[in-house]
Amino acid sequence: MDTSTILVTGGTGYIGSHTCILLLEAGHDVIVVDNLRNSDVAVIDRIETICGRRPLFIEGDVRDTPLLEDILSNHPVTAVIHFAGLKAVGESVSIPLDYYSTNVGGSISLLTAMQNSGVHTLVFSSSCTVYGDPASVPIREDFPRSATNPYGASKLMIEDILSGLHTSEPGWQIARLRYFNPVGAHESGLIGEDPIGTPNNLMPYLTQATAGLRGELNVFGSDYETPDGTGVRDYIHVADLANGHVAALDYLEKQPGMVTVNLGTGNGVSVLEVIRTFEAVNQCKVPYRIVDRRPGDIARCWADTRLANDLLGWKALHSLEDMCRDSWRWQQSQQG
Ligand code: NAD
Ligand code: WQD
Repeated sequence: MDTSTILVTGGTGYIGSHTCILLLEAGHDVIVVDNLRNSDVAVIDRIETICGRRPLFIEGDVRDTPLLEDILSNHPVTAVIHFAGLKAVGESVSIPLDYYSTNVGGSISLLTAMQNSGVHTLVFSSSCTVYGDPASVPIREDFPRSATNPYGASKLMIEDILSGLHTSEPGWQIARLRYFNPVGAHESGLIGEDPIGTPNNLMPYLTQATAGLRGELNVFGSDYETPDGTGVRDYIHVADLANGHVAALDYLEKQPGMVTVNLGTGNGVSVLEVIRTFEAVNQCKVPYRIVDRRPGDIARCWADTRLANDLLGWKALHSLEDMCRDSWRWQQSQQG
């Protein structure tokens, strides 16, 4: 891909920061807009430490359309990767307006600014959550979509807004990327996921519990129709996910249009398998106990990755062992 200037919303966040590194390493200039609601500006220094180049950081809210127009008119931005948003399913039930405002309102604001500035290339962070409880696995992109909480509903709405925009203005180049379960951290141990408060997701809770910072890991349910009874997911290393964005930008440069692509490994892994692998790779003991199912959880979820392979020429390269090793290294580096 030719080098250019990429605007990354939410670029100090977990997935955004890993993507910024790959973009900078590929020679692109990167502008990050983030309001730091769920991240720390120190990430920008760490990105520079890792790759020797620094993104331009602008603290701001994606709902601020004039700010985005200002950025797009003052810099030669050719494409936008839109990570900014709120992502906690449980929290979205408690503060739905915040979720719709940030995720849906923020996306409309960004699209308006892009339209007004003549920038028509967008990579959007969607989620496997749009598949709801799938009738079968692996999940293909043409499976039915549904949502049972405001977070999922916001992703469905944004997907629909993007498809409506593309129908009315076919000149737009849009990739809707549906991530499965991102885990892991940069191999340097300098950046990773840093959830505020008690983590809801498996890997950050597991690492914090193993480090003695939390009580035992609750394994939610052992009576699912899965090989060992625990929930099965498609965990994907964040570095592979980041790479998928570079592949999507590359693809859009050659093939105008709108694509919707799963980013997963295609492998289903149970909670107990994650625990066993984590213990083996890191030579440690994960404190856990089996408890009741978590309301709203599904039994099985993993991706059909053929479209990502065929269209984007992309596939995940990191193993579950890599994910466990890098997650633990990141946890330990945070404790100094
Ligand atoms: P994250 O919270 O680490 O990153 C999101 C970033 O957006 C944060 O830095 C936050 O400060 C910023 N932000 C929030 N509201 C903003 C606003 N109004 N204006 C500007 N910046 C704002 O989350 P992440 O895991 O990196 O997720 C990135 C995207 O990927 C999100 O859209 C999320 O819904 C999606 N996604 C995440 C997962 C996952 O499990 N991590 C899975 C599927 C999809
Ligand atoms: C994984 C597995 C749990 C925590 C969420 C969002 C989804 C997407 C990815 C954003 C399940 C089990 C978990 C714990 C456990 N995010 N678990 N003990 O629920 O698959 O997906 O993140 O788009 O929208 O819903 O991820 O990491 O919470 O759970 O046993 O303390 O681990 O039951 O089987 P989930 P998760």
